[in-house]
Amino acid sequence: MSASEEIPIPSHEADLERDLAVYFVHVVEEAAIAAARTMGQGVADASDQVAVQAMRHAFERVPIEGTIVIGEGERDKAPMLYIGERVGAPHPEGVRYPRVDIAVDPLEGTNLCSTGASNAIAVLAASEPGGLLHAPDCYMEKIIAGPACLDALDLDATPADNLKSMARRLEREVSDLTIAVLDRPRHAGLIAGIRKAGARIRLLQDGDLSAGIAAAVRGAGIDAVMGTGGAPEGVITAAALRCLHGEMVARLVVNTPELEERVHKMGIRDPRRIYRAAELAPGRRLVFAACGVTQGALLNGVRFFGEGCRTHSLVMTREPNTVRFVDAVRLVKPPGPRGVRLF
Ligand code: FBP
Repeated sequence: MSASEEIPIPSHEADLERDLAVYFVHVVEEAAIAAARTMGQGVADASDQVAVQAMRHAFERVPIEGTIVIGEGERDKAPMLYIGERVGAPHPEGVRYPRVDIAVDPLEGTNLCSTGASNAIAVLAASEPGGLLHAPDCYMEKIIAGPACLDALDLDATPADNLKSMARRLEREVSDLTIAVLDRPRHAGLIAGIRKAGARIRLLQDGDLSAGIAAAVRGAGIDAVMGTGGAPEGVITAAALRCLHGEMVARLVVNTPELEERVHKMGIRDPRRIYRAAELAPGRRLVFAACGVTQGALLNGVRFFGEGCRTHSLVMTREPNTVRFVDAVRLVKPPGPRGVRLF
């Protein structure tokens, strides 16, 4: 049965979150399954390419008038899921599908997938038009934490001061905090500052997006993410945080005249502006969907078995505020006489 046979097609805008969330899970599942087939093969570009192709193909069955606002890059650089590309199922005459802006990262953590390391995911965020910042593909300084840290983070404060405010809000000692930081030479000073303050550090090989989501979920083992990562990942993280009521402060890193011009052209007046999650993803009707590619802190990776595979996804909406984990078994052939096998 195809997704369009299973799920009622949303007839008007009010159905955006409720009905489209299910379609978006299917889209990230498709990308995750395709990428997971290449896990550990050491072919990062190919992993990314198959995820992009699978996601693009899956969008053809989603009843939306979608526009990619964060994607694989400009049209001349990306053949699919480029910024401005229209996606969605062709609509029957007389039927209008909802207009939706979409930010995608078909394989977040390309190197994680290519080495079989934890926390690679396929991910997207969607909203009504204008609900996601059109961020340039540059770096972004970020501090991300859970709801307890609302108004407690300051991008211009020292790591020690931020850690103290977080600890106060979480009613813990700084030494009880675990901070995720991308393991990059640019973070040498930040890492030294966190160590000096006495907090624990989880160095990330890649993937500050899934770490950002984990920071807003109690019990996921990360209290905050600090440091500089991708701006597109920052916007998608912000969409997730708005569903999880997490806290984020962020600022674009605009450090060349070319970038300054590009940012200006994109309508961003103040390149030094500090954004909160609600300004990066201001949409009222946000949908966030992610599917694990490799095993992770929040999501299991794709597991293949004889008759099919099992996927694990997270899908969230802002209004109504829902957080769902979807554990799906997909069969490509009938199960054996003893029934469906889960692993
Ligand atoms: P890819 O999925 O594009 O490989 O990005 C992974 C990632 O680690 C992001 O999570 C992060 O925001 C960004 O790259 C950091 O960029 P850089 O590797 O240049 O430090």
